[in-house]
Amino acid sequence: MSTVVAEQTASHGTSRALRERAFGNATELSCRECGHTIALGPHYACPECFGPLEITYDFPAVTAAEIAAGPRNIWRYKALLPVPDDIEQSPNMEPGFTRLLRAHNLGSTLGIDNLWVKDDSTNPTHSFKDRVVACALSAAREFGSTTFACPSTGNLANAVAAAGARAGIRTVVFIPSDLERPKQINSAVYTEHLVAVNGTYDDVNRLASEIAGEEDGWAFVNVNVRPYYAEGSKTLGYEIAEQLGWRLPDQIVIPVASGSQLTKVDKAFRELIALGLVEEKPYRVYGAQATGCSPVSTAFKAGVDAIRPVKPDTIAKSLAIGNPADGVYVLDICRRSGGVVEDVSDDEVRAGIVLLARTEGIFTETAGGTTVGVLKKLVEAGQLDPSLETVIINTGMGLKTIDAIADQVGPAATIDPSYAAFAATNL
Ligand SMILES: Cc1ncc(COP(=O)(O)O)c(C=O)c1O
Ligand SMILES: [Zn+2]
Repeated sequence: MSTVVAEQTASHGTSRALRERAFGNATELSCRECGHTIALGPHYACPECFGPLEITYDFPAVTAAEIAAGPRNIWRYKALLPVPDDIEQSPNMEPGFTRLLRAHNLGSTLGIDNLWVKDDSTNPTHSFKDRVVACALSAAREFGSTTFACPSTGNLANAVAAAGARAGIRTVVFIPSDLERPKQINSAVYTEHLVAVNGTYDDVNRLASEIAGEEDGWAFVNVNVRPYYAEGSKTLGYEIAEQLGWRLPDQIVIPVASGSQLTKVDKAFRELIALGLVEEKPYRVYGAQATGCSPVSTAFKAGVDAIRPVKPDTIAKSLAIGNPADGVYVLDICRRSGGVVEDVSDDEVRAGIVLLARTEGIFTETAGGTTVGVLKKLVEAGQLDPSLETVIINTGMGLKTIDAIADQVGPAATIDPSYAAFAATNL
């Protein structure tokens, strides 16, 4: 196995050599557009064509038994991630290995024979973002970063703030100022440096890129260490396959904001096939958006490759990215696999939240309401085969977006403490 040693860029801080196997079995960064490769470092754009960079690996033989012997968190897959062999030794949130629940009630309500919910709301800060942040934190450590930061639609800020606190690294998290209050508090409780920006997520993202270019030593998890960060979402795909008994589902529905998660679940499935850990089979990938921010589903339905940015207007604020970095790759994966990208109205998002709660006892946030709403719409439109094994990902937790359904649910009756009063309710 070759040893990869790279230098940090001047923009990230002082130049210093990386330690051996700082990124495990990762070998280099390669451009998704032109294939140009460069040494591992805090880079995210191709120096030739500005395309996004992605991690490539030289995987050893990995067996299911080795993975099963690992910890009950994402580090059981560390051989497949850009992290060092001693990753478990450094303080981190130890996310992952969340429940894969058979959803009998939701399935029978929607007419789907074999439905599962991958419930990532049980992660340490209650969204799948703990996975990506754990990988970004490892990269930040290896690069010697002094500030751990992100632009965020909410959940990422929560995850960065908490992971940074646990790791003892300074955090600065940037969010749109109109974000849900619980999401703001869920960041501010972990960090003194929550910055609310008057603008959309896309404005916040632009600001973050500018700061990353100006300041030394800042690791913006989803900007300049994005290639490392994004790989964390692969663990959702690995877990689903492992929890199904090392096989792939036939269909999977995934919410789309930047599109990173969807592309990485697909990458995980392809890696597992290449490694011989699962049997090769076709699977369909479906993307879910809210109509008020649906640039990817709009392009999908129009049959075009280019994504036209939009100004978001939806209660699904965690998915409110108007200019999605990985949108074109989502289109490609969904089209290639025989899936669809669909969107639902805010009312359907609310109905999706309540439906999942009342059928499976899972309180999801607006992103999950979007996913359930899209699942329902796809079945009704005949675009998702109800006879095939289907997984949906619940990426976040309903207590963070409680206002979305505050008008929909509440007491069935308010009564005096007497039996007569109760009996009069006919409950
Ligand atoms: C709860 C939740 N689900 C899904 C997503 C979408 O993730 P991605 O940007 O990788 O598409 C986000 C992004 O912030 C999120 O917070
Ligand atoms: Zn390139």
